[in-house]
Amino acid sequence: MSNLTSLKSTIKLNSGHSIPCLHLGVYEVSSRDTYTSVSSALNLGYRAIDSAEWYGNEAAAGRAIRDFCDKTGTKREEVWFTTKLKSNSGYEATKRAIKRSLQECGLGYIDLYLIHSPYGGKKQRLESWKAMEEAVGEGVIRSIGVSNYGVSHLRELLAMKPQIPPGINQIEVHPFNTRVDITSFCAQHGIVIQAYAPLAKAMRFSHPVLKTIASKVGKTPAQVLVRWSLEKGYVPLPKSVREARMKENADVFGWGLEEEDVKALDGCDEYLVTDWDPTNAD
Ligand SMILES: NC(=O)c1ccc[n+]([C@@H]2O[C@H](COP(=O)([O-])OP(=O)(O)OC[C@H]3O[C@@H](n4cnc5c(N)ncnc54)[C@H](OP(=O)(O)O)[C@@H]3O)[C@@H](O)[C@H]2O)c1
Repeated sequence: MSNLTSLKSTIKLNSGHSIPCLHLGVYEVSSRDTYTSVSSALNLGYRAIDSAEWYGNEAAAGRAIRDFCDKTGTKREEVWFTTKLKSNSGYEATKRAIKRSLQECGLGYIDLYLIHSPYGGKKQRLESWKAMEEAVGEGVIRSIGVSNYGVSHLRELLAMKPQIPPGINQIEVHPFNTRVDITSFCAQHGIVIQAYAPLAKAMRFSHPVLKTIASKVGKTPAQVLVRWSLEKGYVPLPKSVREARMKENADVFGWGLEEEDVKALDGCDEYLVTDWDPTNAD
Protein backbone atom coordinates (compact mmCIF):
# COMPACT_ATOMS: atom_id res chain seq x y z
CA MET A 1 0.00 0.00 0.00
CA SER A 2 1.23 3.48 -0.84
CA ASN A 3 2.57 5.37 2.20
CA LEU A 4 1.27 8.80 1.18
CA THR A 5 -0.70 10.35 4.01
CA SER A 6 -2.28 13.59 2.77
CA LEU A 7 -2.65 16.07 -0.07
CA LYS A 8 0.61 17.56 1.14
CA SER A 9 2.54 14.32 0.70
CA THR A 10 5.09 14.55 -2.08
CA ILE A 11 7.12 12.45 -4.48
CA LYS A 12 10.73 13.34 -5.24
CA LEU A 13 11.57 14.08 -8.86
CA ASN A 14 14.97 13.64 -10.52
CA SER A 15 15.19 17.46 -10.53
CA GLY A 16 15.48 17.30 -6.73
CA HIS A 17 12.10 19.02 -6.30
CA SER A 18 9.24 17.31 -4.48
CA ILE A 19 5.90 17.24 -6.29
CA PRO A 20 2.57 17.01 -4.41
CA CYS A 21 1.06 13.57 -4.91
CA LEU A 22 -2.36 14.74 -6.21
CA HIS A 23 -3.25 17.77 -8.36
CA LEU A 24 -6.42 19.48 -9.46
CA GLY A 25 -6.77 19.46 -13.27
CA VAL A 26 -8.38 22.43 -15.01
CA TYR A 27 -8.75 21.19 -18.60
CA GLU A 28 -11.83 22.59 -20.38
CA VAL A 29 -12.54 24.93 -17.48
CA SER A 30 -13.33 28.57 -18.30
CA SER A 31 -11.25 31.31 -16.71
CA ARG A 32 -14.09 32.27 -14.37
CA ASP A 33 -14.63 28.69 -13.22
CA THR A 34 -10.87 28.12 -12.99
CA TYR A 35 -10.53 30.96 -10.49
CA THR A 36 -13.35 29.53 -8.34
CA SER A 37 -12.22 25.90 -8.67
CA VAL A 38 -8.57 26.60 -7.88
CA SER A 39 -9.58 28.74 -4.89
CA SER A 40 -11.89 26.01 -3.55
CA ALA A 41 -9.28 23.32 -4.10
CA LEU A 42 -6.59 25.28 -2.27
CA ASN A 43 -9.00 25.90 0.61
CA LEU A 44 -9.67 22.14 0.72
CA GLY A 45 -5.94 21.46 1.04
CA TYR A 46 -4.94 20.76 -2.58
CA ARG A 47 -1.46 22.15 -3.19
CA ALA A 48 -1.00 21.56 -6.92
CA ILE A 49 -2.74 22.71 -10.10
CA ASP A 50 -2.39 21.32 -13.62
CA SER A 51 -2.97 23.98 -16.29
CA ALA A 52 -1.68 24.51 -19.84
CA GLU A 53 -1.15 27.25 -22.39
CA TRP A 54 -3.77 25.40 -24.44
CA TYR A 55 -6.44 25.61 -21.71
CA GLY A 56 -6.37 29.42 -21.78
CA ASN A 57 -6.66 29.56 -18.00
CA GLU A 58 -3.08 30.06 -16.78
CA ALA A 59 -3.91 33.64 -15.76
CA ALA A 60 -6.98 32.65 -13.72
CA ALA A 61 -5.16 29.76 -12.06
CA GLY A 62 -2.18 31.98 -11.24
CA ARG A 63 -4.41 34.72 -9.84
CA ALA A 64 -6.28 32.24 -7.62
CA ILE A 65 -2.96 30.89 -6.29
CA ARG A 66 -1.60 34.39 -5.61
CA ASP A 67 -4.80 35.49 -3.87
CA PHE A 68 -4.85 32.32 -1.75
CA CYS A 69 -1.22 32.83 -0.73
CA ASP A 70 -1.86 36.49 0.14
CA LYS A 71 -5.00 35.74 2.15
CA THR A 72 -3.65 32.79 4.09
CA GLY A 73 0.02 33.68 4.42
CA THR A 74 0.91 30.54 2.47
CA LYS A 75 4.28 30.75 0.74
CA ARG A 76 4.35 30.58 -3.04
CA GLU A 77 6.75 27.62 -2.71
CA GLU A 78 4.02 25.61 -1.00
CA VAL A 79 1.77 25.58 -4.08
CA TRP A 80 2.79 23.72 -7.23
CA PHE A 81 1.88 25.13 -10.62
CA THR A 82 2.22 23.09 -13.81
CA THR A 83 1.72 24.42 -17.30
CA LYS A 84 2.49 23.10 -20.77
CA LEU A 85 3.92 24.13 -24.12
CA LYS A 86 1.08 24.07 -26.64
CA SER A 87 3.11 23.19 -29.74
CA ASN A 88 6.62 22.24 -30.73
CA SER A 89 7.43 25.09 -33.09
CA GLY A 90 11.18 25.50 -32.63
CA TYR A 91 13.64 26.90 -30.13
CA GLU A 92 12.72 30.58 -30.35
CA ALA A 93 8.97 29.89 -30.29
CA THR A 94 9.42 27.81 -27.14
CA LYS A 95 11.39 30.60 -25.47
CA ARG A 96 8.55 32.99 -26.30
CA ALA A 97 5.89 30.56 -25.06
CA ILE A 98 7.67 30.15 -21.72
CA LYS A 99 7.87 33.92 -21.32
CA ARG A 100 4.17 34.24 -22.12
CA SER A 101 3.15 31.55 -19.63
CA LEU A 102 5.25 33.22 -16.94
CA GLN A 103 3.55 36.53 -17.61
CA GLU A 104 0.11 34.92 -17.72
CA CYS A 105 0.38 33.11 -14.40
CA GLY A 106 2.25 35.92 -12.62
CA LEU A 107 3.77 33.44 -10.18
CA GLY A 108 7.42 34.40 -10.72
CA TYR A 109 8.38 30.88 -11.73
CA ILE A 110 6.73 27.70 -13.00
CA ASP A 111 7.13 24.54 -10.94
CA LEU A 112 6.72 22.13 -13.83
CA TYR A 113 6.71 22.82 -17.55
CA LEU A 114 5.77 20.03 -19.95
CA ILE A 115 5.83 19.58 -23.71
CA HIS A 116 2.07 19.01 -24.16
CA SER A 117 2.44 16.41 -26.90
CA PRO A 118 5.07 14.98 -29.24
CA TYR A 119 3.37 16.47 -32.34
CA GLY A 120 5.71 18.59 -34.47
CA GLY A 121 8.47 16.09 -35.32
CA LYS A 122 11.84 15.15 -33.88
CA LYS A 123 13.76 18.36 -34.64
CA GLN A 124 11.11 20.57 -33.09
CA ARG A 125 10.71 18.35 -30.03
CA LEU A 126 14.43 18.43 -29.30
CA GLU A 127 14.58 22.19 -29.83
CA SER A 128 11.70 22.65 -27.37
CA TRP A 129 13.67 20.64 -24.85
CA LYS A 130 16.82 22.76 -25.29
CA ALA A 131 14.82 25.94 -24.68
CA MET A 132 13.22 24.38 -21.59
CA GLU A 133 16.60 23.34 -20.19
CA GLU A 134 17.79 26.91 -20.58
CA ALA A 135 14.75 28.23 -18.76
CA VAL A 136 15.61 25.94 -15.83
CA GLY A 137 19.12 27.42 -15.90
CA GLU A 138 17.59 30.89 -15.76
CA GLY A 139 15.53 29.89 -12.72
CA VAL A 140 12.11 30.55 -14.25
CA ILE A 141 11.17 26.86 -14.44
CA ARG A 142 12.03 24.35 -11.71
CA SER A 143 11.32 20.94 -13.27
CA ILE A 144 10.69 19.88 -16.86
CA GLY A 145 8.97 16.95 -18.47
CA VAL A 146 6.81 15.75 -21.31
CA SER A 147 3.23 14.71 -21.92
CA ASN A 148 1.71 12.14 -24.25
CA TYR A 149 5.17 10.77 -25.04
CA GLY A 150 5.32 7.16 -26.18
CA VAL A 151 8.39 4.99 -25.61
CA SER A 152 9.95 6.02 -28.96
CA HIS A 153 9.73 9.72 -28.06
CA LEU A 154 11.27 9.08 -24.66
CA ARG A 155 14.10 7.06 -26.23
CA GLU A 156 14.71 9.87 -28.72
CA LEU A 157 14.97 12.45 -25.92
CA LEU A 158 17.24 10.29 -23.75
CA ALA A 159 19.44 9.50 -26.78
CA MET A 160 20.31 13.18 -27.13
CA LYS A 161 21.87 12.90 -23.64
CA PRO A 162 19.98 15.90 -22.35
CA GLN A 163 21.58 18.12 -19.73
CA ILE A 164 18.36 17.69 -17.78
CA PRO A 165 16.54 14.36 -18.17
CA PRO A 166 12.72 14.40 -18.20
CA GLY A 167 11.26 14.11 -14.70
CA ILE A 168 7.65 13.53 -15.68
CA ASN A 169 5.60 11.95 -18.46
CA GLN A 170 1.95 13.01 -18.19
CA ILE A 171 -0.24 10.46 -19.97
CA GLU A 172 -3.77 9.13 -19.89
CA VAL A 173 -3.70 6.24 -17.46
CA HIS A 174 -6.41 4.52 -15.40
CA PRO A 175 -7.56 0.90 -15.04
CA PHE A 176 -9.34 1.04 -18.41
CA ASN A 177 -6.16 2.21 -20.19
CA THR A 178 -3.11 1.06 -18.26
CA ARG A 179 -0.32 1.88 -20.78
CA VAL A 180 2.07 -0.65 -19.28
CA ASP A 181 4.51 -0.17 -22.18
CA ILE A 182 5.02 3.48 -21.23
CA THR A 183 4.71 3.20 -17.45
CA SER A 184 7.30 0.41 -17.22
CA PHE A 185 9.77 2.31 -19.44
CA CYS A 186 9.32 5.38 -17.24
CA ALA A 187 9.83 3.34 -14.06
CA GLN A 188 13.11 2.01 -15.47
CA HIS A 189 14.31 5.55 -16.20
CA GLY A 190 13.20 7.33 -13.04
CA ILE A 191 10.46 9.27 -14.84
CA VAL A 192 7.36 9.85 -12.69
CA ILE A 193 3.98 9.31 -14.35
CA GLN A 194 1.28 11.95 -14.00
CA ALA A 195 -2.07 10.27 -14.61
CA TYR A 196 -4.44 12.40 -16.64
CA ALA A 197 -8.10 11.50 -16.91
CA PRO A 198 -7.55 9.42 -13.75
CA LEU A 199 -11.34 9.09 -13.38
CA ALA A 200 -11.62 7.94 -17.01
CA LYS A 201 -13.77 11.07 -17.35
CA ALA A 202 -16.44 9.37 -15.20
CA MET A 203 -17.21 7.01 -18.11
CA ARG A 204 -16.81 3.69 -16.25
CA PHE A 205 -18.20 4.36 -12.77
CA SER A 206 -20.70 1.52 -13.19
CA HIS A 207 -18.16 -1.03 -14.35
CA PRO A 208 -18.87 -4.19 -12.27
CA VAL A 209 -15.26 -4.70 -11.09
CA LEU A 210 -14.95 -1.08 -10.00
CA LYS A 211 -18.37 -1.13 -8.31
CA THR A 212 -17.58 -4.33 -6.41
CA ILE A 213 -14.26 -2.98 -5.11
CA ALA A 214 -15.83 0.38 -4.22
CA SER A 215 -18.51 -1.29 -2.10
CA LYS A 216 -15.95 -3.64 -0.50
CA VAL A 217 -13.77 -0.72 0.67
CA GLY A 218 -16.74 1.56 1.36
CA LYS A 219 -15.60 4.29 -1.05
CA THR A 220 -16.93 5.78 -4.27
CA PRO A 221 -15.75 4.63 -7.72
CA ALA A 222 -14.00 8.00 -8.16
CA GLN A 223 -12.06 7.51 -4.92
CA VAL A 224 -11.07 3.97 -5.89
CA LEU A 225 -9.74 5.23 -9.23
CA VAL A 226 -7.69 8.01 -7.62
CA ARG A 227 -6.39 5.56 -5.04
CA TRP A 228 -5.41 3.08 -7.79
CA SER A 229 -3.19 5.82 -9.26
CA LEU A 230 -1.57 6.49 -5.89
CA GLU A 231 -0.99 2.76 -5.27
CA LYS A 232 0.86 2.65 -8.62
CA GLY A 233 3.10 5.59 -7.65
CA TYR A 234 1.50 7.90 -10.21
CA VAL A 235 0.45 11.51 -9.60
CA PRO A 236 -3.28 11.70 -10.43
CA LEU A 237 -4.85 14.93 -11.72
CA PRO A 238 -8.62 14.53 -11.15
CA LYS A 239 -10.64 17.43 -12.53
CA SER A 240 -13.83 18.78 -11.04
CA VAL A 241 -15.39 22.21 -10.89
CA ARG A 242 -17.61 21.14 -7.94
CA GLU A 243 -16.32 21.55 -4.43
CA ALA A 244 -18.07 18.44 -3.07
CA ARG A 245 -16.44 16.29 -5.76
CA MET A 246 -13.03 17.88 -5.21
CA LYS A 247 -13.40 16.93 -1.57
CA GLU A 248 -14.50 13.40 -2.47
CA ASN A 249 -11.60 12.95 -4.93
CA ALA A 250 -9.10 14.02 -2.29
CA ASP A 251 -10.46 11.73 0.44
CA VAL A 252 -8.07 9.01 -0.61
CA PHE A 253 -5.69 8.81 2.34
CA GLY A 254 -5.73 6.67 5.48
CA TRP A 255 -7.07 3.69 3.55
CA GLY A 256 -5.87 1.69 0.58
CA LEU A 257 -6.47 -1.03 -1.96
CA GLU A 258 -5.24 -4.55 -1.44
CA GLU A 259 -2.91 -6.01 -4.03
CA GLU A 260 -5.67 -8.30 -5.34
CA ASP A 261 -7.95 -5.28 -5.90
CA VAL A 262 -5.22 -3.41 -7.76
CA LYS A 263 -4.69 -6.50 -9.92
CA ALA A 264 -8.42 -6.87 -10.59
CA LEU A 265 -8.54 -3.24 -11.70
CA ASP A 266 -5.45 -3.73 -13.90
CA GLY A 267 -7.44 -6.48 -15.60
CA CYS A 268 -10.07 -3.96 -16.77
CA ASP A 269 -7.75 -2.55 -19.44
CA GLU A 270 -9.65 -1.97 -22.70
CA TYR A 271 -7.45 0.81 -24.13
CA LEU A 272 -10.15 3.39 -23.41
CA VAL A 273 -8.99 6.74 -24.81
CA THR A 274 -11.14 9.51 -23.36
CA ASP A 275 -9.54 12.39 -25.21
CA TRP A 276 -6.62 11.86 -27.62
CA ASP A 277 -3.65 9.58 -27.97
CA PRO A 278 -0.59 11.16 -29.58
CA THR A 279 1.83 8.54 -28.15
CA ASN A 280 2.47 7.04 -31.59
CA ALA A 281 2.99 10.34 -33.42
CA ASP A 282 5.98 10.57 -35.82
N1 LIG B 1 -1.79 16.32 -21.08
C1 LIG B 1 -2.91 16.08 -21.70
O1 LIG B 1 -2.96 15.91 -22.93
C2 LIG B 1 -4.18 16.03 -20.90
C3 LIG B 1 -5.37 15.55 -21.50
C4 LIG B 1 -6.52 15.47 -20.70
C5 LIG B 1 -6.47 15.87 -19.37
N2 LIG B 1 -5.30 16.37 -18.83
C6 LIG B 1 -5.22 16.83 -17.43
O2 LIG B 1 -5.82 15.86 -16.56
C7 LIG B 1 -6.93 16.45 -15.87
C8 LIG B 1 -8.02 15.43 -15.63
O3 LIG B 1 -8.47 14.83 -16.82
P1 LIG B 1 -9.92 14.99 -17.39
O4 LIG B 1 -10.44 16.30 -16.96
O5 LIG B 1 -9.87 14.72 -18.84
O6 LIG B 1 -10.72 13.77 -16.77
P2 LIG B 1 -11.07 13.18 -15.29
O7 LIG B 1 -10.41 13.95 -14.23
O8 LIG B 1 -10.83 11.72 -15.40
O9 LIG B 1 -12.64 13.36 -15.22
C9 LIG B 1 -13.24 14.62 -15.15
C10 LIG B 1 -14.75 14.43 -15.29
O10 LIG B 1 -15.27 13.69 -14.20
C11 LIG B 1 -16.26 14.46 -13.48
N3 LIG B 1 -16.04 14.19 -12.06
C12 LIG B 1 -15.00 14.61 -11.30
N4 LIG B 1 -15.07 14.10 -10.06
C13 LIG B 1 -16.19 13.36 -10.02
C14 LIG B 1 -16.81 12.61 -8.99
N5 LIG B 1 -16.26 12.50 -7.78
N6 LIG B 1 -17.98 11.98 -9.28
C15 LIG B 1 -18.53 12.09 -10.51
N7 LIG B 1 -17.99 12.78 -11.54
C16 LIG B 1 -16.82 13.40 -11.28
C17 LIG B 1 -15.99 15.91 -13.87
O11 LIG B 1 -17.18 16.67 -13.86
P3 LIG B 1 -17.34 18.02 -12.95
O12 LIG B 1 -16.20 18.93 -13.27
O13 LIG B 1 -18.64 18.53 -13.40
O14 LIG B 1 -17.34 17.55 -11.53
C18 LIG B 1 -15.48 15.76 -15.32
O15 LIG B 1 -16.57 15.60 -16.20
C19 LIG B 1 -7.34 17.61 -16.78
O16 LIG B 1 -8.13 18.57 -16.12
C20 LIG B 1 -5.99 18.13 -17.21
O17 LIG B 1 -5.41 18.90 -16.17
C21 LIG B 1 -4.17 16.43 -19.57
